[in-house]
Amino acid sequence: MSKTATLEIDGKKYEFPLIVGTENEVAIDIKTLRGATGGVTTIDPGYKNTGACESAITFLNGEEGILRYRGYSIEELAEKADFLEVAYLLIFGELPTQQELDKFKADIKEESVVDDDIKKIIDAFPKAAHPMGVLSSLTSALTAFNPEAVNVDSEEDMYKTVCKIMGKFPVLVAWTMRKKKGLPLNYGDSSLGYVENILQMMFSKPNEDYKQNDILVNALDKLLILHADHEQNCSTSTVRIVGSAHTGLFASISSGISALWGPLHGGANQAVLEMLEAIKEDGGDTKKFMAKAKDKEDPFRLMGFGHRVYKNFDPRAKIIKVAADEVLADLGVEDPVLDIAKGLASEALSDEYFVKRKLYPNVDFYSGIIYRSMGIPVEMFTVMFALGRLPGWIAQWKEMRARKEPIGRPRQVYIGENHRAFKAVEKR
Ligand code: SDX
Repeated sequence: MSKTATLEIDGKKYEFPLIVGTENEVAIDIKTLRGATGGVTTIDPGYKNTGACESAITFLNGEEGILRYRGYSIEELAEKADFLEVAYLLIFGELPTQQELDKFKADIKEESVVDDDIKKIIDAFPKAAHPMGVLSSLTSALTAFNPEAVNVDSEEDMYKTVCKIMGKFPVLVAWTMRKKKGLPLNYGDSSLGYVENILQMMFSKPNEDYKQNDILVNALDKLLILHADHEQNCSTSTVRIVGSAHTGLFASISSGISALWGPLHGGANQAVLEMLEAIKEDGGDTKKFMAKAKDKEDPFRLMGFGHRVYKNFDPRAKIIKVAADEVLADLGVEDPVLDIAKGLASEALSDEYFVKRKLYPNVDFYSGIIYRSMGIPVEMFTVMFALGRLPGWIAQWKEMRARKEPIGRPRQVYIGENHRAFKAVEKR
């Protein structure tokens, strides 16, 4: 492999170094391009071919369907670790010792109370407000109540800020759901584990004791692990670029929540369930919806299918599909929508349009079926995605700041009007 790439413009040659990652990914380092060529830049809408950074957090290979957090396979982590263990791994780079994990869990618990005035902000939202908009606002509001968490210069400040957001975010998630359902807000029970208490805060009723269900706890723990990070996806890139302006962690994460909300991104898990329900209401005719998805005149897309990077099965979708079967069986839930999903997937996987474009089920295709079987409202599905992605956003923001990355400021190619003189209104 040569060490440089050569670019020729108007007969003049320019050499740029090649950088090779630990998994042998090769990139052309064009940091000096504009200066060396007297103003030539590149253009790559959606950054399909452009790396924004070097990162040591998550590796994925879209062609082979590989996903690893800090070198550990997603399959092993989903089976053998718990969510806070994986969060620690992503954020601090190594699997924690038992002592480190116990301390992390205790420090997060210590920070899992939010200022009571947050309730005044929640009260101001209409019940019809989408939970992702509420969550983004509440997360940004955390800055107002924790101003010391904005400029995290020391490792100690960073650790404290990590524990603050890891402790308070599940409370905001639970309160967002309960407000919509008209239920009183609570903190659950601090003697419970992280995921147990999320379920307790979300589902406990004021007039009866909440009964923990290990099936739900294990399913949610696994789903949170599977959503925890995914290298430079849309919402993570948003968190990084907002943080590159030295905006605080909570406000940066708030922007990531807004990016995740989009139906082409994290909002797809809600859109998948709505699509499957529409197919069911329409008589279950999956072929009709497949035809719509292939019709260029029709804006309809098969939600939960396709991926910017995976041109093979999304490894997370494989794990979630198995989990969906297990959870529904354990809960004794017969969900016809799961059968429709499986029928749609098998049709798409043998359809020339999808095969040619390498469109496979992604992480969002089956996850909503599990969330629904757990009693989570469909509008909360993307909020659950955000709950899982939180440690990934933190890890990526921390890495970007530790590496002192420059403020993100892409260039453009101007295609507007050339210079022209002002025209008085009577002459327009
Ligand atoms: C997530 O990046 C990440 O890592 C994201 C994520 C994470 O963990 O953070 O993995 C989470 O966002 C998963 C993706 C969830 N979104 C959806 O399920 C929405 C449906 N999928 C698509 O909208 C689409 O596949 C994207 C947005 C996911 C990817 O779009 P790309 O890479 O820009 O692909 P494209 O739009 O250029 O499509 C290529 C071709 C086009 O057809 P042609 O112009 O070549 O004829 O494939 C077609 C598209 O029309 N196509 C689809 C399709 N997805 C792509 N056709 C029908 N249904 C689809 N779902």
